[in-house]
Parts: sequence; structure tokens; C-alpha cells
Amino acid sequence: MKDRFIVSGGAQLVGSVKVNGAKNSVLKLMAAALLAEGTTILRNCPEILDVPLMQKVLEGLGCEVTVAGSVVTITTPPELSPDADFDAVRQFRASVCVLGPLTARCGRAVVALPGGDAIGSRPLDMHQSGLEKLGATTRISHGAVVAEAASLRGAHISLDFPSVGATENILTAAVLASGQTVLNNAAREPEIVDLCNMLNEMGAQISGAGTSVITIDGVAALHPTEHEVIGDRIVAGTWAYAAAMTCGDVTVGGIAPRNLHLPLEKLRVAGASVETYDNGFRVRMDHRPQAVDYQTLPFPGFPTDLQPMAIGIAAVSEGTSVITENIFESRFRFVDEMLRLGADANVDGHHVVLRGMPRLSSTDVWASDIRAGAGLVLAALCADGETTVHDVHHIDRGYPKFVEILQNLGADIRRVTS
Ligand code: UD1
Repeated sequence: MKDRFIVSGGAQLVGSVKVNGAKNSVLKLMAAALLAEGTTILRNCPEILDVPLMQKVLEGLGCEVTVAGSVVTITTPPELSPDADFDAVRQFRASVCVLGPLTARCGRAVVALPGGDAIGSRPLDMHQSGLEKLGATTRISHGAVVAEAASLRGAHISLDFPSVGATENILTAAVLASGQTVLNNAAREPEIVDLCNMLNEMGAQISGAGTSVITIDGVAALHPTEHEVIGDRIVAGTWAYAAAMTCGDVTVGGIAPRNLHLPLEKLRVAGASVETYDNGFRVRMDHRPQAVDYQTLPFPGFPTDLQPMAIGIAAVSEGTSVITENIFESRFRFVDEMLRLGADANVDGHHVVLRGMPRLSSTDVWASDIRAGAGLVLAALCADGETTVHDVHHIDRGYPKFVEILQNLGADIRRVTS
């Protein structure tokens, strides 16, 4: 079914919203449940399409999984199948995070290579070389990555780049390896910290999570746990930018503001008033934003997943902004859709120069990935007239109750199911 959103621009968003658990955490935590026989319970899970997809992957490996609202319960059997269901895995990239746990538990993992991605090439070389350092052999065979290891042993591993996915797969294999693993240039994202916290609750011995050197002392076995997923900083950031772009006043709860430090700082520079609390923040804007430059970098840098929101605000700011994408080379495809909305944007390699306009102008636009889709809706809120955003199934993969939340904040938006 191809749903679309109809958005009429002009409303100022006002109100409060509580964010769900992080998409980029929950899927990895679900995969981590493979590491311990017994029943793991995850709370604060987002009600998004990727969760039932991951449920299917885990069920194919032999787990029993129930999803009841925001609670996911996973019962992992003593013996797992090492072959992840080809079709289920190919549907979403994050499923590759079963590679580390399966290699550690079964001594073998066969995981289909995720399909092409609209945001750019996403190789697995660092995942593979990390597992090889731990003693596995890996190869690509018939469209799947195959890892095999009679046993895993701790090692010193240095990543060329702080890849989130490679850090996760190395962590979830090294927890059950014999001896100590030191992972240098590890990703520092809050979702990595969440995963390490859960693994430690399961009996793992990990230190240094949130820094670029993570040390893992392998243990013989892990036990199941009950864990609450951290708030989704990208969803929280989306509402923060929506508030600033529409000259609104939005309070966002369920998120540690330190996980969104730079995006909120950028909004301050753009002229917004930002108050932070223990578990949330408030963004108020009472005039057109000022132009600000952005460059995406691994955490604590500006997140690539908020780059469409940065382009969105730059498109309606006073002055010229330069936005630099350093993580995914094809993410500027989104700019073509912004041009349809009348943005004054010029792409030059991995930079885009935007001269802000007071208003954008409505038309039909197409979402190409989760974040680009959300960015288009934010831009449509600043466009004269009625914009139709097509292919919104992408948005549904990452944003629970997207339309309802925006409606509650005063936006004129509705879903049309065809
Ligand atoms: C995760 C997030 C995604 C976010 C990204 C960067 C999930 C499900 N997705 O994706 O939303 O945008 O982090 O914050 O958590 N790379 C290699 N070889 C590898 C692995 C990565 O070259 O083996 C490159 C990628 O092509 C990319 C960069 O490293 O250019 C970053 O990728 P990575 O951090 O691994 O992102 P993901 O884990 O795929």
C-alpha cells in the first residue's frame, strides 16, 4: 500500500511530545538477546515497522518473540539456527546486527547482504575484518556474508572509521570470546552506550562505552535481562528542528539532551531559545532562523540522520548556509526534492550551499529514505499551499505516529491511503 501525506504549510508548531525508544538502539538490543538463552524483555520499544521485521528475523533463527505495544519479549532457545532468513534480512539494513551474536553463539553465521541503500554504499568490510581479528573466517557467498569460527579469542582491533554497525558486531561477538578485546576508534554514539549497558546487565564485562576505546573482557555465558531502550535522539531532533523552522514552541520529553547537544547548540546559533531539562528540552523560535553551517560527523558531531532537517532549516533561514555531508555520499539526493519545493540550493560534491528563502512553494515530492522523508514534511510545513509527500512508508519505518504527533502540535497534515 502506498500511502502519502498531504501537508498544508503555515502552522506554527506548539505543544509537547514525548519521544519513543530509539530505532537505532532497539534493533541491536533485540539482536543482543540472541546471546543469552532464556527470556529477555525490552521496554520503551518504538512501534515502527522495523521491529516486526526484526521479530521475523529472530523467529527464523529459532527465538519466540512477542511484540505488545512498546514491550518486546524474546525467548532464545539453547540452540539457534545460524542462517538468517534471506528475504527478511534483505528488507532492512539493521538486520546485519545478528552477525556478531550468531558467530559468538553458533560458531557460524549466514546473513544476507542488505540491499542497496538510497543514502549511499554501505559495505561490511570493517564488520568482517573485526570478526576475523577475533578468529573467525568470513566470506561473501551467494549474496550472504558467512562467518565461521571454531572459537573466538580477544584481540586488539582498530577501526579505520568509527562505524556504528561494525562496533556493534564486534562488541556482540567479543563479549563471548576468550580473553580481552580492545576496540580502538570505536563509535561513541549513545546507542552504543545503550547496547553496552544492556550487555553488562547480561553479565558482560565492557568498559569505555561512549569513548573511542572500548575494552571487553570475554565471559563464558550471558544471562537474559530486562532493559529499557533509550529515547530516540533523531526523532527528538526532528521535532526540535520542526519547532524552529515553523517559529513554534515545542517541549520534547523522553530524551537526554546531552545526546543531542550539537543539534540543539546549532538551533541556539540560529536564534532559537533552547532550555534543557533532565529528560527533555524546549525549543522556542520567535523570528525567522539565521543561516548556520553544518557538517555531519560521527557522534558527538552533527548526526548525518539529521542532515535533511539541517537542509530544511537552511532552506528557510535568513542568509546562506553550507552543509557538508561526510558520512553517506548519496544523501544529497534529498536536495533534488527540496529544489522542487523551491529551495535555492547548489550541490558541489559533498557540500550543498543554500540561500534561504522566506517561504517554500508546495508541490509533489517523494521520500527516498526515513530521514529524507521526515525532512520533506518539515519543509512542506514551511511551504505556501498544499504539498503531497509520496512514499511515506519510509517515514513509517522510523517515526511512530508521525502524523498524529504533528497534528497534536497544530500541523495541517493528513495521511491518504491508496
Ligand atoms: C548507523 C545508523 C544510521 C546512521 C549511521 C551513522 C542504524 C540501524 N543505522 O548505520 O541511521 O546514519 O549509523 O551514524 O543504527 N562503512 C564502511 N565499511 C563498513 C562499515 C561502514 O565503509 O564495514 C562506512 C559506511 O559506508 C559509511 C560510514 O562507514 O560511510 C558510517 O557507517 P556506519 O557508522 O557503519 O553506519 P551504520 O551502522 O550502517
